[in-house]
Amino acid sequence: MPAEILDTTPRRALVTGAAGGLGREVAIQLAARGCAVAIADINAEGAAETARLVREKGAEAETIVGDFTREGAPEAAVEKVVARWGGIDILVNNAGYGVIEPFLDATYKSWTRTLALNVTALAMACKAAGRVMRDQRSGRIINITSPGSRMALPDYTAYTASKAGVDSITRAAAVALAPYGVLVNSLAPGMMDTEMQRSTEADLARANGRNDLQAFLDERTRRIPLGRRAEISEVAEAVIWLCLDSPKYMTAERLNMSGGLDKD
Ligand SMILES: NC(=O)c1ccc[n+]([C@@H]2O[C@H](COP(=O)([O-])OP(=O)(O)OC[C@H]3O[C@@H](n4cnc5c(N)ncnc54)[C@H](O)[C@@H]3O)[C@@H](O)[C@H]2O)c1
Repeated sequence: MPAEILDTTPRRALVTGAAGGLGREVAIQLAARGCAVAIADINAEGAAETARLVREKGAEAETIVGDFTREGAPEAAVEKVVARWGGIDILVNNAGYGVIEPFLDATYKSWTRTLALNVTALAMACKAAGRVMRDQRSGRIINITSPGSRMALPDYTAYTASKAGVDSITRAAAVALAPYGVLVNSLAPGMMDTEMQRSTEADLARANGRNDLQAFLDERTRRIPLGRRAEISEVAEAVIWLCLDSPKYMTAERLNMSGGLDKD
């Protein structure tokens, strides 16, 4: 009998940044696989819509609206999940922020905002969920990183540095939680056509003095070895695999879903 028919464990998930883009798709796909999903985002309207789509799949949904960079917000989100469902089995740290800013024009504000969400809040969420998962002796954490974490991108350095931070936290959290059977992995999506990606590339084109946006985008797409941008749904499928299906011996891994852009 297939394992999934025998396995009736309820799965309680928290997805950050799930008001749209990749996070929303991950929430919907988790719901379709029978998970209860908490949606944490600063965007109340988007979070409510994701909750509606999760319930449409027959799953329970909880929305947690607020700025995840506030001190205590990641811990409070985990507490809310535990209060509602009695534990947490899956954390997807997906919320992300980035701003195009030439390296020599770097501002304290941009760096602080980027690192506060992509690094500090993510680390606090890993800690808070990790403590619950340690006591449960089970759980999976997936951190969304970026191919950029290993690239030299002088117009996007706060973001790439923050994602290098995500890789570092993933490795440390994986080792800290390994004795308890808790798995921590990361996934690096390729270019997906989300709101964040659209505005970032428009800003990047402007910063490079390009006013032929479509030609600029096409050039960038041609650099992807598979020759096309990623569908949000196919990247989400890989996240779901890490959440529910990847082997229990796999931890501290970084999974590339970038069509060959990232190569190890
Ligand atoms: N789109 C891409 O091509 C691409 C490529 C590589 C990595 N990524 C990563 O994938 C993840 C999802 O990005 P996306 O493209 O779906 O972008 P998106 O902008 O659609 O999603 C990001 C979400 O984070 C939320 N958010 C932002 N600041 C927040 C805060 N302070 N508190 C709470 N929520 C906040 C936003 O409201 C939004 O819903 C990010 O971590 C991003 O860095 C995206």
